[in-house]
Amino acid sequence: MRRYFAPSGPLRGTLRAPGDKSLSHRAALFGAMSDDPVRVTGYLDAADTRSSLNAVRACGALVEESAPGTLTIRGPGLRNALPADIDVGNAGTLMRLIPGWLAGQGAGVWTVDGDDSIRRRPVDRVANPLREMGAHIDARDERLPPFTVHGASLHGIEYTLPVASGQVKSCVLMAGLLAEGPTTVIEPVPSRDHTERLLARSGARITRDGDRITVTSQDELELGSLHIPGDPSSAAFLIAAAILVRGSRIVIGDMNANWTRTGFIRIAERMGAVVIGDLEPPRPGEIVPEEPVCELDVASGPLVATEVNADEVPLAIDELPLVALLGCYAEGETVVRGAEELRLKETDRIAAVVDGLRGLGADIEATPDGFAVRGNGGLRGGTIPSLGDHRLAMLGAVAGLASGEGVEVDGMEAAEVSYPTFERDLSTLID
Ligand code: S3P
Repeated sequence: MRRYFAPSGPLRGTLRAPGDKSLSHRAALFGAMSDDPVRVTGYLDAADTRSSLNAVRACGALVEESAPGTLTIRGPGLRNALPADIDVGNAGTLMRLIPGWLAGQGAGVWTVDGDDSIRRRPVDRVANPLREMGAHIDARDERLPPFTVHGASLHGIEYTLPVASGQVKSCVLMAGLLAEGPTTVIEPVPSRDHTERLLARSGARITRDGDRITVTSQDELELGSLHIPGDPSSAAFLIAAAILVRGSRIVIGDMNANWTRTGFIRIAERMGAVVIGDLEPPRPGEIVPEEPVCELDVASGPLVATEVNADEVPLAIDELPLVALLGCYAEGETVVRGAEELRLKETDRIAAVVDGLRGLGADIEATPDGFAVRGNGGLRGGTIPSLGDHRLAMLGAVAGLASGEGVEVDGMEAAEVSYPTFERDLSTLID
């Protein structure tokens, strides 16, 4: 599906971004792992998070939807997942988290597969620590989907993450709930911490000591009810549009303000953007059971270049394509380093962003672990392919609003994966 995004007049208005995708995946999984029913509000209705609901249904959960985004999940509980064939669709987070629950089931076999993009994404990063814990996992070429998980008895391990990854950390901690003895994950730099917060809320024994997070075996989880605030990664596209299109002023309500998810806003502020809101201050070394919520007030303004280094990367990982776009409009050279993980996302997001934005007139080059972009007065426009990647499709749309001649996005339907109402939301801000 091709869509043209014309240069836009000021964006104005108030809205809520769709439910947080990372939290929605976890709500489905932890809901299914709980003994008592879990009521969820604000659940993201998008392709990726529907895959998670279907996966937990396949494993024996009952999911009732009483209103859009309002669900009751009645799980099979921590130890009673039914054997199933699981189709994760395009959802990398589901693919990397669910083995953590399944590997420690006493018995049963689960196959996990997904779309063409998923089949290119490695699972060895979760299979390796799970195997160390005693799991039986057979993957294609040892490291790619489809793969099979055979339920086994697990034992706790101490695992140092080779790269900072919220997905891998979550998978190992989930397996730790079913393992004998303590399981400790050591992270090189902080990454998103939703799993730790949810486990603390669910009554699990979880502690954090500096960069070491430890869980122990659990009889049951008790999540109760959960509200999922708006997704800062989806809101980031609207925020970037409001920063770039002259005269804009928008307000985003009910947004997740968790400090491990708002790195992009801190980077944008450093570049000179005016973003006012009650973001959670960095709290490394703590486990806070709640997800904080904020209202953000964003206005357009001139930008200066910045440098983003490895320790900041996990806190803005999905928004780095937007840092490249802001860099096109900033004075000076914006450099992102330590972001080689971008090459393993839905597409190789270093190559795709660099090629895509260059095709629209950007002065940008790829490096092995990131990119460098020199502000050259903004983008001309043209055509950008989404390559089936939701975040590239939305990047192209925002580039179009801020461009001189407009941008055609080839493959706009990819936005369905995380933000199905993206175009509608944009148009309410433009009209
Ligand atoms: C996610 C973690 C990140 C992120 C992904 C969602 C999560 O991946 O890019 O979109 O919900 O845990 P990595 O853990 O691979 O960095």
